[in-house]
Amino acid sequence: MRRYAQIIGWGRSLPNHILTNDDLERIVDTSDEWIRTRTGIRQRHIATDPRETTATLAIKAAQEALRVADVPASKVDMVIVSTSSPEHIFPSTASLVQDGLGAVHAGAFDLSAACSGFVYALSVAHGLIAGGLAEYVLVIGSETLSRFVDWSDRSTCVLFGDGAGAVLVAASEVPGGVLSSVLGSDGSGGDLLIIPAGGSKLPASLETVASGQHYVKMDGRGVFRFATRIMASAAQEAVERAGLSMDDIELLIPHQANRRIIESAMKQLGLAEDRVLIDLDRYGNTSTASIPIALCDAIEEGRVKQHDHLLMVGFGGGLTWAAAVVEWSVPLPLPSTSWWRIAQHSGAFHMAQVRSFGRRALRRLYNVTVGEQEDDNQPSRTVFGRGLRRLRSRLSSGRSSGQQPPKEP
Ligand code: ACO
Repeated sequence: MRRYAQIIGWGRSLPNHILTNDDLERIVDTSDEWIRTRTGIRQRHIATDPRETTATLAIKAAQEALRVADVPASKVDMVIVSTSSPEHIFPSTASLVQDGLGAVHAGAFDLSAACSGFVYALSVAHGLIAGGLAEYVLVIGSETLSRFVDWSDRSTCVLFGDGAGAVLVAASEVPGGVLSSVLGSDGSGGDLLIIPAGGSKLPASLETVASGQHYVKMDGRGVFRFATRIMASAAQEAVERAGLSMDDIELLIPHQANRRIIESAMKQLGLAEDRVLIDLDRYGNTSTASIPIALCDAIEEGRVKQHDHLLMVGFGGGLTWAAAVVEWSVPLPLPSTSWWRIAQHSGAFHMAQVRSFGRRALRRLYNVTVGEQEDDNQPSRTVFGRGLRRLRSRLSSGRSSGQQPPKEP
């Protein structure tokens, strides 16, 4: 029996702080008029609170997606976080998200394909499900690029915003879901959009910090030319691969980088504005989060109906591009969820936090009291040590792939 990959849950999360074009006029030599006419952006959300990170935004968006789908985190098989602003080089942001959600049976990895990343991740989820390797995959796009932006560079700081969007993709026998995808890359254009330092080629040093090499550098015109060319051709190819024509597409959900880029794609594809979702005036360019955030907006605005064909298309650093056609299968609007189910979900999310805290505390305690004194094959000398080892063993056995510690003699 053929397996289809259906989007059954969705959610987004945005930092509270809003930065308007007027605010930017006070930071750099720019104007509301220039930003609006050259990009279409009026405001963006910025993570100003240090406790708001790529992972916390991703967790909130994913919790919403799980609530909408009414699926517990424990059923998720894989967490994919697409991001260009990961919390660390390692561990992956996806692992932090997996822990924060209490997705105790899930694998987790980050996917790096800049603004095309969400559609890349959706395509990977489709592959995992179609190949029988997963039943539920969380696909999340999350960014805090404001932390990599040079706030004295007017050519980039006016563009980006922070946020996260997530979808839960589920295996289904119902035809539809992800019908096709097109993924592309041209690394020869890697220098058009780059954070030069902080990786293995140019590790952090006093010089790299002093020369601002940890900030986003962009050849705006170069990216613009690439984007206007690639968006329409990738979109067209995805539609053809789905066995459809552009007339069958009810809604185009493009990457929200610049209104002029979207309008160019609309013109080339022959799509009028009522068949295109544009929300960058409110959020700016949230990179890989822009497509799932726009999907949530489209659903909220009543612009998605069961059996609609949605065309998602992104482009970005790499250079990369990605397009996918999704046949929407969930009837909308959703019936309201009972307070009891909402309470159950939020209870489970709180328990995930308690569990995470407990595991960290236990690991620390174990290392201090037992781990440094003896290796796992030696019996503990104290009753406390033996008790801790048993507790750790019990907690570890909750994991599907965790290696079991040796039994206490
Ligand atoms: N305010 C006022 N003037 C500005 C600003 C600003 N914020 N930024 C640039 N200018 C000036 C420039 O200095 C230039 O002045 P000059 O003519 O005196 O030299 C003038 O405006 C025109 O500059 P351009 O760079 O030619 O402006 P353009 O019309 O190309 O717009 C923009 C610039 C908005 C960056 C555009 O090129 C663009 O959107 N490019 C695509 C960028 C993009 O999509 N990046 C994200 C990719 S997704 C990802 O992977 C993260």
